[in-house]
Amino acid sequence: MSTLKAVRGTRDLLPPETELWNFVEETARRVFARYNFGEIRTPIFEDTQLFARGVGEETDIVSKEMYTWEDRARAQSEKAQSLTLRPENTAGVVRAYIENKLGETGLLQKLYYIGPQFRRERPQKGRYRQFYQIGAEVIGPPSAGSESPLRDAEVLEMLATLLTELGIEGWKLELNSVGSMSDRPRYIAALREALKEKAPLMCSDCQQRANTNPLRVLDCKVPEDQPIIETLPKIADFLDESSKAHFAAVCAALDACGVAYSVNPRLVRGLDYYTRTTFEFTHGGLGAQNALLGGGRYDGLSEVIGGPKAPGIGFAMGEDRLILTLQAQADQKLALADAYIAPLGEALNPAALELARDLRRAGLRIELGDGGFRLKKSFEMGNKLARKIVLLGENELQSGILTVKDFASGEQVKVPRTELAQSLKAE
Ligand code: HAM
Repeated sequence: MSTLKAVRGTRDLLPPETELWNFVEETARRVFARYNFGEIRTPIFEDTQLFARGVGEETDIVSKEMYTWEDRARAQSEKAQSLTLRPENTAGVVRAYIENKLGETGLLQKLYYIGPQFRRERPQKGRYRQFYQIGAEVIGPPSAGSESPLRDAEVLEMLATLLTELGIEGWKLELNSVGSMSDRPRYIAALREALKEKAPLMCSDCQQRANTNPLRVLDCKVPEDQPIIETLPKIADFLDESSKAHFAAVCAALDACGVAYSVNPRLVRGLDYYTRTTFEFTHGGLGAQNALLGGGRYDGLSEVIGGPKAPGIGFAMGEDRLILTLQAQADQKLALADAYIAPLGEALNPAALELARDLRRAGLRIELGDGGFRLKKSFEMGNKLARKIVLLGENELQSGILTVKDFASGEQVKVPRTELAQSLKAE
């Protein structure tokens, strides 16, 4: 009999990796609690209409990627219903906000969630059909301050803190404003106009998007289309005064607390509900699927799914991608030796072996090169294998002062041999 396997794009999470998942989730819960968020758990499947209306019919998620089925009626009194495995959690949270009348408290609702989401995308590194998100939403009536740019900045500052506490290094925050509900039609009209001429030169997806949802053209990843996209109108030029002021206030609050960001005018994101602030945190180590998390403001979403005015902002992080990043960082740190010793000439090999022995006895992880290598090759090998390189030439041997270069910072220092072990241990 043929063996049965986990469905394409799904996988089992096993120990010891699950320990890392628990660490990530516990850290997130701890940080969210400090910002006074509470947990929400919404159903894993919802009425298909929720996503069609909330996320947008023309988005890739709704038009191509949802797991949707017709749920048969079980009794005469029941009606068949189209149901969908949730591809994201924001629409579900807003539905729950409306259904549970959370707006009637008059307070901001600060809700977080951790759980599986489902999208029928082409699986690749960092992209799965069942994946996990850790997300949070801040939503409430305008009287509770839900429209304030301070809410946007607070969410972004919380994310910077969370990533730091998770030990994720080297992330980048990209920020944009996609304008309000009234800015957007003016921009889309200008985009449509520009695309009349340009779309025929673009990929077939873009040709279709130019008609159905021109904003999505800006998301296109096809390399040949990029120079054309650069020439299209920019949304920043279509923001009205209040949207401009909102964006400037978000930036000013981030500046005040030292959260670094870059403005990316093309960041429109793949869901239709966004207004004003949109953002993504990316990480270079992830390859093509480099978005660790994404989010933004959705001031009109509640009304679109039949609720009261309830502006909000939120994000969702790809937990699978956080784990991949943490694993890559751990592998990198584990694999790198403390130092690579480069004897400068074969005559220095014996002295280099002796130096390596002493450093290893001092507990350091040492790679020993070879005096037969040219200096350039020693640097190349050292850079792959170790954090630092120690040069041992005739001068160094005589003076007892060694040259040590740190590959990450590029800093080069002279260290007496007697202090070398201590200095290599320092970081
Ligand atoms: P999203 O950008 O579609 O936004 O997804 C957020 C994050 O989920 C992505 O940055 C990525 O890390 C992860 N992700 C998405 N698809 C996959 C996949 N197939 N495999 C692995 N990871 C994936 C949203 O979902 C919005 N609901 C975020 C939001 C919340 N906006 C406002 N509030």
